[in-house]
Amino acid sequence: MKKRIGILLDYPTYRKIPTKKSSYEKIQYYHSAAKKHDLIPLFMTPSLINPKKMTCTGYEKQRKKYSQVVRSIPKVIHNRAMPGKKGKRILKKIEASTSIYNRYTRYTKLYIHRILNQYRSLQKHLPATETFNKSHLSQMMKKHKTLFIKPISNSVGNGIIKISRIKPEKWKMQTNKGVRYVAKDQVYQQIKLSQKKSSYLVQEGIALATYRGNPYDLRVSVQKNGKGEWQITGIIGKVAGRGKHVTNVAKGGKVVRCERLFAHSGFDEQKIRKEVEHLALEVAKTLDKKLTNLADLGLDIGVTPDGDMFFIEMNGRDQRYSFRNGRMLEAWSKTYENPIDYGHYLLCQQ
Ligand SMILES: Nc1ncnc2c1ncn2[C@@H]1O[C@H](COP(=O)(O)OP(=O)(O)OP(=O)(O)O)[C@@H](O)[C@H]1O
Ligand SMILES: [Mg+2]
Repeated sequence: MKKRIGILLDYPTYRKIPTKKSSYEKIQYYHSAAKKHDLIPLFMTPSLINPKKMTCTGYEKQRKKYSQVVRSIPKVIHNRAMPGKKGKRILKKIEASTSIYNRYTRYTKLYIHRILNQYRSLQKHLPATETFNKSHLSQMMKKHKTLFIKPISNSVGNGIIKISRIKPEKWKMQTNKGVRYVAKDQVYQQIKLSQKKSSYLVQEGIALATYRGNPYDLRVSVQKNGKGEWQITGIIGKVAGRGKHVTNVAKGGKVVRCERLFAHSGFDEQKIRKEVEHLALEVAKTLDKKLTNLADLGLDIGVTPDGDMFFIEMNGRDQRYSFRNGRMLEAWSKTYENPIDYGHYLLCQQ
């Protein structure tokens, strides 16, 4: 009998499965990857799981059409959801009987920083980072000329402030709305006024290499493969929109192949690529020691004009479409295939 693999999605994405128009997920790629292993993908969502009966309602493709079916909970589940409180409770109830990989998709940036910062070899790749408060800000303003103030989780480029020292008493403050100049002793207050979330961090600004005058960084997909080993699936560049301080595509950033970016910066492409891959793998393996069931990460890595490398953040649910936008179709499909290969590996282990 064919085995099933669960693909756990947030409800808004799940709901759109039959329309074949889920904007963030390329559902077809899950099918092609599962077919290789003779697995049936069952698309699920936390709220339609019944932990008492150990069943779930999910979408399955039957003769080219999707139907909602009730099935036993699959033995392996690839998590692509960011469940809220209720969803989390449901997953807790079933996790002893199934293997949910990429189990947690939401970690705060501070938590990740603190884990990585315990490792000597990684410290030089981490910008100084503190919780945002008046005294940390004032200390950091003395030490660094540029700082980033960011929500500790899920911002998609929103609410990120960059401040830069122009003169000893004058700072430039850049938000998504534009640029202002602020006296040094007003900076804290001005930042506070624009903050909407409860927790922020303050971080040393990395002097990112630029492409045609705009800073860029890299999105690196690091995933476990069919042998259960971490590997690099793809690297793509993100260039900030003109005058912007964040490279997020959602904030006007443009996706550009890294070959082009590296050539523009005068880097030895092979060498720098190897170094990025090395850092990304080290970060993934290190986090894997501390976090539960990691399998699929999207890392933001920044490079300076001198070729120094910095870890910016980790995304627990990588939105893989940068590879599509960058016309890296092979890497894009691989970002779907590897996690399914890994799910198959987990099934074989059972
Ligand atoms: N310390 C920094 N120095 C230079 N640029 C930074 C720094 N921190 C962030 N940036 C810029 O801002 C962008 C967004 O920051 P980051 O990736 O940390 O948050 P995010 O993508 O908004 O978060 P999330 O993925 O949780 O929604 C980065 O890709 C980078 O371009
Ligand atoms: Mg990011």
